[in-house]
Amino acid sequence: MCGILAVFGCVDCSQAKRARILELSSRLRHRGPDWSGLHSEEDCYLAHQRLAIVDPASGDQPLYNEDKSIIVTVNGEIYNHKELREQLKSHKFNTGSDCEVIAHLYEEHGEDFVHMLDGMFSFVLLDTRNKSYIAARDAIGITPLYIGWGLDGSVWFASEMKALSDDCEQFMSFLPGHIYSSKNGGLRRWYNPPWWSELVPSTPYDPLVLRNAFEKAVIKRLMTDVPFGVLLSGGLDSSLVAAVASRHLVDSEAYCQWGSQLHTFCIGLKGSPDLVAAREVADYLGTRHHEFYFTVQEGIDALEEVIYHIETYDVTTIRASTPMFLMSRKIKSLGVKMVLSGEGSDEIFGGYLYFHKAPNKEEFHEETCRKIKALHLYDCLRANKSTSAWGLEARVPFLDKEFINVAMSIDPKWKMIDRDNGRIEKWVLRNAFDDDEKPYLPKHILYRQKEQFSDGVGYSWIDGLRDHANKQVTDSMLANANFVYPENTPATKEAYYYRKIFEKFFPKNAARLTVPGGPSVACSTAKAVEWDASWSKNLDPSGRAALGVHAAAYEDAK
Ligand SMILES: *[C@@H]1O[C@H](CO)[C@@H](O)[C@H](O)[C@H]1NC(C)=O
Repeated sequence: MCGILAVFGCVDCSQAKRARILELSSRLRHRGPDWSGLHSEEDCYLAHQRLAIVDPASGDQPLYNEDKSIIVTVNGEIYNHKELREQLKSHKFNTGSDCEVIAHLYEEHGEDFVHMLDGMFSFVLLDTRNKSYIAARDAIGITPLYIGWGLDGSVWFASEMKALSDDCEQFMSFLPGHIYSSKNGGLRRWYNPPWWSELVPSTPYDPLVLRNAFEKAVIKRLMTDVPFGVLLSGGLDSSLVAAVASRHLVDSEAYCQWGSQLHTFCIGLKGSPDLVAAREVADYLGTRHHEFYFTVQEGIDALEEVIYHIETYDVTTIRASTPMFLMSRKIKSLGVKMVLSGEGSDEIFGGYLYFHKAPNKEEFHEETCRKIKALHLYDCLRANKSTSAWGLEARVPFLDKEFINVAMSIDPKWKMIDRDNGRIEKWVLRNAFDDDEKPYLPKHILYRQKEQFSDGVGYSWIDGLRDHANKQVTDSMLANANFVYPENTPATKEAYYYRKIFEKFFPKNAARLTVPGGPSVACSTAKAVEWDASWSKNLDPSGRAALGVHAAAYEDAK
């Protein structure tokens, strides 16, 4: 990943301002430790912190078109940049960077080209010819982006909130799948996939179509000029990513440089379920597997840094981010700069346990759509910022645009949990990779049921966090929480504890509001309770409490 910061329309354009922009940009250096750049021009600044993955030697940013009238700062990977270069034959490219196509596409098509990009990205582009600028974020919000406004009339964009929160009067999370144009000063959605309307689709389930779409999604993400691996928890999703990646490594661009053995990584408390499951998958696939351990105390000690980096006080996100944050540091220390990861599958296929209670396919489908639309606030934010904290890039094949289109066009009756027909959660995905002739994974792994990430790292992790928070937050602190934090009031001592840390780093109200809370955070819970009143006893925000009713859900379903 990289870090971008751009500011337009500053009143003060002094050397001091330039120094300030450099200082703010350096708050994003963890995202891109390899090089920095700043282009300034009159009252406009475009800054970049680079993590070099494609064309490390010459792809430094900001990037330009031929006559340097268009300047662009990008955080992202454009997987179809070679095809796009083919279409831009009349243009002369300065670098081998996949992101340079953005400058030339704009030259060719004006503002309406974002849908042509296949990848994850956030970028800001300045057209000096008519002093206009645009900013855009990828379809699902895999990469983070914030927009802010200064009291002097300036407009700001940054990969992470910490680069603009001190200097902006107002700011917010930039909506995924949107483009901001200075022409009308507003955001509009460029991403308009068929599933957006939430109309119930009717395409019959075809396992091979789904399998091919996923294989393609993984293969295109093997585009890299640096060492990489797969985050392997041993659950279905990450195991499929590893299985497909290891099978196709030989045909990929990465192969000639990095060899045919895939590296896989797992973290947990000693003896945790994930470590055991991941080891088994790694042995089966023959990967070069790396196991990392952490202690509850090490996790607790990292919490302040974790919250500073991931910029949320959402309880489930913090619990799951901490092991990922610790693991990313270890992975980076091995010289690895990019990892594939399994986020998104649970949203697309209804993998969360409360989906067992969906009353009909219509509601099942609408809930999956809603979950995908909120990914940028939860798992995408976690995966991107926990890894970027250490200059590691995470790529998420389940959130490939084409794959989502295929998966979300399937008649949702196939995704519904149906014990009578042997269909457990995510059956359509499991079945698509159930190949007796050339198995991707052993059957018992392919059909293994869900272990929530934050629990899989070890059962005492969440208990340890809770115990620690209970010691830090008194009863009267919690009793008065609604006065201290009237917005998104924390309901537990653990939530209160995280909130206090968050407020220390991000004291402004605008920062608080970038985090989902109140009615929207309760939404999944609300849906679960709506579908089954007995869930109201399990208001723990993680899937963990749900695990308690896991068996019960099956008993009832019979
Ligand atoms: C500036 O020029 C580009 C490319 O021709 C065009 O798409 C854009 O709308 C123009 N912006 C303004 C503010 O006129």
